[in-house]
Parts: sequence; C-alpha cells; structure tokens
Amino acid sequence: MIANTEEDIKHLKVIGHICAMTLQTMMEHARPGISTLELDNIGMEFLAREGAQSAPMSMYQFPGATCISVSPVIAHGIPNNRVLREGELINIDVSAEMNGYYGDTGASMVVSKHVPEYEKLLAAARSALEKAVHVAVAGQPLNLIGQTIQEEAKRNGYGVIFDLTGHGIGRKLHEEPTEVFNYYKQTDRRILEEGVVLAIEPFLTSGKGHVYEERDGWSLRTIDRTIAAQFEHTIIVTKNEPIILTI
Ligand code: CO
Ligand code: CO
Repeated sequence: MIANTEEDIKHLKVIGHICAMTLQTMMEHARPGISTLELDNIGMEFLAREGAQSAPMSMYQFPGATCISVSPVIAHGIPNNRVLREGELINIDVSAEMNGYYGDTGASMVVSKHVPEYEKLLAAARSALEKAVHVAVAGQPLNLIGQTIQEEAKRNGYGVIFDLTGHGIGRKLHEEPTEVFNYYKQTDRRILEEGVVLAIEPFLTSGKGHVYEERDGWSLRTIDRTIAAQFEHTIIVTKNEPIILTI
C-alpha cells in the first residue's frame, strides 16, 4: 500500500510495534526444553492480548500463529511438539493484522549457546537488512535493495536465497510490489514510490540459495542442506530515511 495519511502511518506503527514486541517475547522464551508449539502459544497469546490477529493464520490458514523454523528448515516452519535444543539455529517470523493494517517481522537466532559459525551468518544477515533498509529511498530503483543485500552477503562470504523475497504489505500481508528480490535483478525497472510500505527480508546462506518444500506443504529447506538466516522489517519508504515500523 501507499501510506499517505497520518491515519495510515499511525495504524501501521501500532501493528508494527506489536509484531516487534511479539517477536522479542518469543525470542526471550526460545530456550532449550520449550517446544515450538509452546513458543507459538506465547506469541499467539501476546498478539491476542494486544488485540491483533495472526496474519498467516487468517490469510493462509497456516497451522500456527507464527512461523518457527528449526534449521535445516529456514522458513514457514509449523509449530509442533519439537523441543528446542541448545545450539540450534532457528527463525521466528511474526506477521499480524489490526484495524485492517498488517505488519511483518522476523529474526534468526541460536538457542542459548555461542556457535561462531551461526553467529557469523546472523551478523551478516542483520547487516544486510540494515543496509537494505537505508537504501530504500523514494525515487530510487527498487532493485537497489536486492543489489545491496547481495553485495553485503558476498562481502561476508555468503549468498542469498533466490527463491524467497520481500514484498509490499499494508492492507494485506502480501501485496504490490509483490517481489522485493534479495538479489540484483537487472530487468527489474520498478522505482520506489514515496509512502510505499515494504517488508524487506534478506535470507543469507552458505549454500547455493535454493529451497524446496517439505511434505507438510509449508516448511522450506535449503536444497543443499546448508544453513540460512533471515531478518525482516516492515518499513515506509520516504524521501529520506525510511520509517521502520517493526521496532
Ligand atoms: Co515475515
Ligand atoms: Co514477509
């Protein structure tokens, strides 16, 4: 959507903040011994208390309030009885709606342990998101976002997941502009409009960057079984610094 009224911005900030707080609470509870279903329930209760609705549940009948992916699953993991273990790489993605406005945020983390191999990847993915957010300026080409993500990945010795993209958001979870690629796509001539609401979500990987869907119809794994990490923010593009909604 194009957020062009104070009303739009106000509602987007509210739902963005709720998503961010939900994610933060879930990350704090992501400790050894908790099942991903228990973790999802913490997220669901947090959203309910704030008066927000899980977006994947209401829009796509996803079997969970949030997506919790345990490596080698990298996205769209279904919360279940799987218990988290120390040193596992996981991703939590929270998207929700309130008053007809949507927010979307996500983060990868290691469960209760220092694992240098994972932490290096996390730092690179976090940095890719930060850099991508700052180049998202009205009037600039949209593919500058993908170019920035890909360059930052490469600089740190990683690649991107080609099959997963960011997206427009606002009045729906996924809307125009539909694909915000995590790589430089030369043929993409779209220009960032002032007020456009985007979910930017770089996925970095040590592998070749392709995924397949498991038989559960949701969980996505890297084809080469390599690790991947994602960080995501919902932002409003302006003529200067974007407004980061999911903080
Ligand atoms: Co998300
Ligand atoms: Co998203």
